[in-house]
Amino acid sequence: MKDIKIKGATIPALGFGTFQLDSEAANHMVKAALNEGYRHIDTAQMYKNEESVGKAIRESGVPRSDVFLTTKVMPGNLSKKDFLPSVEESLQKLGSEYVDLLLIHWPNAEVPVEEYMGELVKAQEKGYTKYIGVSNHTTALLDKVLATGADIITDQVEYHPFINQDKLHHYLLEHDLSLTAYSPIAQGKVMGNSTLKSIGDKYNKNEIQVTLRWLIQQEAVLAIPRSSKEQHMKSNFNIFDFELTPDEMQQIDALKQENKRLINPSWAPEWD
Ligand SMILES: NC(=O)c1ccc[n+]([C@@H]2O[C@H](COP(=O)([O-])OP(=O)(O)OC[C@H]3O[C@@H](n4cnc5c(N)ncnc54)[C@H](OP(=O)(O)O)[C@@H]3O)[C@@H](O)[C@H]2O)c1
Repeated sequence: MKDIKIKGATIPALGFGTFQLDSEAANHMVKAALNEGYRHIDTAQMYKNEESVGKAIRESGVPRSDVFLTTKVMPGNLSKKDFLPSVEESLQKLGSEYVDLLLIHWPNAEVPVEEYMGELVKAQEKGYTKYIGVSNHTTALLDKVLATGADIITDQVEYHPFINQDKLHHYLLEHDLSLTAYSPIAQGKVMGNSTLKSIGDKYNKNEIQVTLRWLIQQEAVLAIPRSSKEQHMKSNFNIFDFELTPDEMQQIDALKQENKRLINPSWAPEWD
């Protein structure tokens, strides 16, 4: 496993995502993922599976301190009144006194950045989380976040071979921040891509494994693929025994010309 070290945090570069996994699937798959060797788990208030994720960690036998656990505060809970009570509820559901990383899931046009970042810092000061960060924040929003003085470590955003995130990625590197790639395999759509397939043939890897390798070979990039199938989850973890050449990295970089965004809800900010 490759770790990303950022501002004192050590985070396994490959994590396991739990979006759209219902209680039963989340419990089963998180336990199986921990058993396979994953040590970085991503959940959110919105996913309605924090209880099952927490239970899976306890049942796995892996010490809580060995797992890097992230949850996210949903947009409806960003106000001063709702923020901290919602985090307390998340911790109760997770059955843990803390998370490793607490993220603002989406900005909310109704709540000023300064208000929710103030609450996020309070959550950190109370020991509810070791590290803080944001998700779905553009460079314009990150300017506001950083102006508050909050010491964030990551922006979790959509990133896979078919989207161009150059502007945001450069911004994050300039500010010593990591990029956590969500929907890292374009929700399965990287399968069948001829460039990824021909590169994979050389290493006996599939398009998804090549994509995950491409992500974690980039500076300060983490990836959190999700799967509801043990076989897929295991195969996605099998990416640490080969290395893409600079030329292969560039061939995959060139796919971003498609610039297709998969996650774009009505409440999304104006993207970079
Ligand atoms: N912050 C945010 O707003 C945000 C938004 C979206 C996602 N996320 C996080 O990022 C995680 C990952 O993103 P995502 O869930 O959108 O999509 P993803 O990880 O890019 O793709 C998941 C899809 O790929 C399929 N898949 C996985 N491994 C496979 C394999 N080896 N072979 C074939 N198909 C495979 C899965 O199907 P099977 O179940 O059949 O394997 C599933 O349909 C989420 O779970 C969540 O934790 C965050």
